[in-house]
Amino acid sequence: MKTIIYYFTGTGNSLAAAKKIAAALGETAIVPIASLAKTSGPITPDAGRVGIVCPVYFSGLPAMVTAFAERLDAAPAGYVFAVVTHGGGGGAAALRQLDGILRERDGRGLDAGFSVSMPGNYILMYESPAGEKRDRLLAAADSEFEAIAARIGRGERRNLPHAPLTRLIKAVMYPRFLSRVHGDDRKFTVDERCTSCGTCAAVCPAENIEIVEGKPVWNHRCELCCGCIHLCPAGAIQAGKGTEGRQRYRNPSVGIAELERQREP
Ligand SMILES: Cc1cc2nc3c(=O)[nH]c(=O)nc-3n(C[C@H](O)[C@H](O)[C@H](O)COP(=O)(O)O)c2cc1C
Repeated sequence: MKTIIYYFTGTGNSLAAAKKIAAALGETAIVPIASLAKTSGPITPDAGRVGIVCPVYFSGLPAMVTAFAERLDAAPAGYVFAVVTHGGGGGAAALRQLDGILRERDGRGLDAGFSVSMPGNYILMYESPAGEKRDRLLAAADSEFEAIAARIGRGERRNLPHAPLTRLIKAVMYPRFLSRVHGDDRKFTVDERCTSCGTCAAVCPAENIEIVEGKPVWNHRCELCCGCIHLCPAGAIQAGKGTEGRQRYRNPSVGIAELERQREP
């Protein structure tokens, strides 16, 4: 059966998830949500199965994923699933948010939703796990993707997890995140290590970065995916003192070139 997986990613975890599930399912197209951001009108996938894969932000969905889901007409597909990747929690609340948006649009929500723990990438607050800890997390996630693909392949329908605590956390944190997200790039600066390579602008899923006189300029359409900070080859992008000493992260199964293609149709 033909499947389309739509994904959004900052540092590659969600793209790695989409690729692994697609490989296990076979006959699957992977479409970046960022490539649809400049289009308008309903999105009508021509597939028997539709999946959405994205990270959890403050126990909810990235803003661009919300806008995409509001346009998605997934009802004609026989089976609709979602996989959210996160650094520690909040997946249940994000899945419920997505289910609610789809349900409101066409009266039919997710048939199944899965939440998978992966290395956290919110560098503004903490350092991503590295070394053996990172490798253990990624290996465990890979096993989960296999199991998830098998469940999707069988067309399993599951009730979404109930998580009253994460819903409470979301109620407090998420509205604040949404109200500031696009302008949060005002915290971003570039230091003297910048080589003017343009990687930051190329990987930005929101097309928010321009290179002006050889340096990145952020235009306040930020999704806060932290891709520019993590993927700068020189480690030259900061968001305050806190990020200066923190190790950068990219999912090792995903290359920079793939992340640079996110906005391409
Ligand atoms: C702005 C932001 C907010 C985040 N909020 C959460 C969160 O609420 N809970 C959590 O477990 N991880 C959170 N994370 C971590 C990501 O969900 C996690 O690292 C995800 O796998 C990143 O996926 P990506 O590599 O596809 O961008 C957050 C990351 C960012 C950048």
